[in-house]
Amino acid sequence: MTGVLGGVLLLAPPALAEGPSPAAALFTQRCRSCHTLGEGDKVGPELLGVMERREEAWLTRFLASPGAMIDSGDATAVSLLQKFNGVRMPDMQLSDEQRQQLFAYFRECTKKGGCKPSAAERMASDATPEEIDRGRRLFEGGEPLARGGAACIGCHDVRGLGVAGGGTLARDLTFSFARLGDRGMSPVLEKLEQGVMQGLYAQAPLTEQEQYELKAFLAHVSRDGTPPRADRDFFYLGVVGLLAALGFIGIVRGGHADAPPAAGKPRGDT
Ligand code: HEC
Ligand code: HEC
Repeated sequence: MTGVLGGVLLLAPPALAEGPSPAAALFTQRCRSCHTLGEGDKVGPELLGVMERREEAWLTRFLASPGAMIDSGDATAVSLLQKFNGVRMPDMQLSDEQRQQLFAYFRECTKKGGCKPSAAERMASDATPEEIDRGRRLFEGGEPLARGGAACIGCHDVRGLGVAGGGTLARDLTFSFARLGDRGMSPVLEKLEQGVMQGLYAQAPLTEQEQYELKAFLAHVSRDGTPPRADRDFFYLGVVGLLAALGFIGIVRGGHADAPPAAGKPRGDT
């Protein structure tokens, strides 16, 4: 089995995505919360085509200080302010070099028809219901992973799966997103190299879109208020209970056992 997988690895090394350019990274960190390049207006205007619809000199002055530009009564800036509900773009303190890089990036994106953020850059909180749903299907194996990787459900459970639930070979992922955070989760899904996952996914990594949809699904699951499956709780309680019982016996032997406070014991009358 490993021989076969090793052979596949040699024949078809997975294409690794290039990291984002400095301008793309800058745009993601400083601008993407309010602007898109090809996905329409957000808090601020769509920036696809902005180099074509404005003079570069105007953009340079605007980016140096949007606030000052608006206050000076510049007609374009004032009408943008009105159109975007009076939200003022903050002064971004860009260096000349950063501004030039961004301008080049805007032109490049316009030529390409848009620059959507890569999976690693997009926040799970921006996911559409369809993306979350697809993440669930990929997790459950209802839809196969593009590169043939095993469905996550074989080893992991999360709350809200079908009657049978997920596997118990590895950690329940219900709260993994809450624990790892968006930035912590992305590299885990990109590599899937923990424990036995390494052997399974080194040759069949998730596509960027799959990484994003699974992240969106796991984020959704961690936010969902419904309690985790009862029988699953029972399983874990069984293990945890066994360990606790062993520990408890140890404590009893050590002579430090305190009776746990009775749950639901009525308080004194008031
Ligand atoms: C907090 C939200 C916010 C952030 C962050 C932000 N902008 Fe803006 N941007 C706006 C708004 C709103 C406008 C419309 C003008 C106004 O109301 O101030 C705008 C306008 C613009 C315009 C003019 C668009 C046009 O159609 O002429 C450009 C260019 C621009 N922003 C670039 C950037 C860049 C580059 C960054 C990151 C370095 C950035 N913005 C970060 C909210 C934002
Ligand atoms: C063959 C079993 C197996 C499969 C299949 C599998 N995993 Fe894992 N996964 C593990 C193991 C083992 C760990 C290490 C932690 C543990 O022991 O639970 C892990 C850890 C993780 C973690 C880190 C959890 C945390 O809270 O730190 C994430 C996230 C994860 N897996 C996601 C996935 C996703 C998404 C898939 C499907 C594409 C998947 N796994 C498929 C076995 C598996």
